[in-house]
Amino acid sequence: MTKSKNFFEKLSITQELIISVIAVIFLMISLLGFIVAKALIKSNEEKIAWQKKSNLQIATSLLADPIWTVDTNNIKNAASTFVRDDNQIIAVRVLDEYGDILVESRDHSVAGIEFKELLKTKNRFLDAGDIKRNNEKIGSIEFIYSTQKFNDELTWLIIKLGFSFFLVGLGFGLIILWRLKKTITEPVNRIVEGSKKIAEGNYQFQVEEEYVLEFQQIAQALNVAIRAINERDLELKRQIIKAELATKAKSNFVSTMSHEIRTPLNAIIGLTELTLDSELTGDQRDNLETAKLSADSLLSIINDILDFSKIEAGRLELETLDFDMIDVLQECERILSLSAKKKSIGLRLYFALEENYLFKGDPFRIKQILLNLINNAIKFTPEGGEVHVRLDIIDRNNSAALLRFEVQDTGIGIDKNKMENLFEAFSQEDQSTTRKFGGTGLGLSISKRLIDLMGGMIGVDSEVNVGSTFWFQIRLKEGK
Ligand SMILES: Nc1ncnc2c1ncn2[C@@H]1O[C@H](COP(=O)(O)OP(=O)(O)OP(=O)(O)O)[C@@H](O)[C@H]1O
Ligand SMILES: [Mg+2]
Repeated sequence: MTKSKNFFEKLSITQELIISVIAVIFLMISLLGFIVAKALIKSNEEKIAWQKKSNLQIATSLLADPIWTVDTNNIKNAASTFVRDDNQIIAVRVLDEYGDILVESRDHSVAGIEFKELLKTKNRFLDAGDIKRNNEKIGSIEFIYSTQKFNDELTWLIIKLGFSFFLVGLGFGLIILWRLKKTITEPVNRIVEGSKKIAEGNYQFQVEEEYVLEFQQIAQALNVAIRAINERDLELKRQIIKAELATKAKSNFVSTMSHEIRTPLNAIIGLTELTLDSELTGDQRDNLETAKLSADSLLSIINDILDFSKIEAGRLELETLDFDMIDVLQECERILSLSAKKKSIGLRLYFALEENYLFKGDPFRIKQILLNLINNAIKFTPEGGEVHVRLDIIDRNNSAALLRFEVQDTGIGIDKNKMENLFEAFSQEDQSTTRKFGGTGLGLSISKRLIDLMGGMIGVDSEVNVGSTFWFQIRLKEGK
């Protein structure tokens, strides 16, 4: 079962490194920005607290006399000094002892705005104190402080700082990435390439030795595996050659044996035929005919075994003769018409009369294939059935033709499971087939091998209890 991967599991090492470096840079910048901002804000708060105190003292010393003498000009001068000199004060108001406004001064940035309105904006606050003369209150002063300018400057500072750090961090990050690429990514890629080659079945190489210890160990382990696989392959090849030699020797033995059996068997058949031609009693003739039937069927089995072992040993050679395909078909019909008649099976040939059927090839082997297919069709079709043999020319070009043969019967049919191995040797559907119908189970496999040798193909369509259609296609040169 494959586990669904999350985002990080899908990344390559390089991608992960880039993401990590960028994340570290941003983390560092955020942390640094936070610390710097915090420190500056704190120092500004201290600065404002100190300024508040000192501004009140200065105000008392500057304003005590002018308020006492109601010298509006001097009060005004003093008030505007605060706004001008202290860049965090945006407005100042001086009041008399009854709370009436004597003078108002403000920064040009907030000119024309009501004193009370000024406090409605954030980052501004009011600080007020009494002006005393000889310990007696003669008036008061109100300052409006604004930290907005400071905040703006702070923001700018953080941005500049962050940007500088980003550049520095990026520089370092790139250097680290480059180093990591050399020490991790590239070795990993080389090892991955090596593993891929192994997976594709290429073992004729060695993985480059790496200089980082862990990768060196992986590379060495891969090389050991490659060597082991190569050794195993070599051993397998040796075994295969041995097995092939043994099979060949067996095939040779079987083919020699069949040959040796055939010679006396032919003598038996020949002499039986000769004796059958002489004068015999009824019983003697019956016995000899049975003997001849048995000898014939033994010969056909021996022939099959001989053919099969010849093909297995790669010793079967095809002829190239000019022949008429219709002769081959009619010969098959002639040979098998008797056995068809015995079972009241209608054996029929179909081919188009207007076609030319002169080809170059091996008529004996084509006949052998057709005889087996038609023989099977008759064998596996109950009495009164039909066996139709069809020849079609599918294609003709460049002085060659593609021929399709079909042998269709209304017989017992073939089970789906059985169809796969049908063309393998000794693959009768079940043991009862042998008992009931006879044969060695070599017919189809010999047919298939012969068709393979001719560069053609064979197949079957079948339905149990309905019938089978065996077909094969071969390409033959036009003959004369
Ligand atoms: N027309 C057919 N209808 C039903 N079954 C078939 C047909 N042709 C072949 N078979 C099945 O395929 C098996 C293999 O056929 P094959 O011709 O190779 O061997 P065989 O006929 O049994 O023996 P041999 O051909 O060596 O005498 C048969 O035993 C049979 O079970
Ligand atoms: Mg057969």
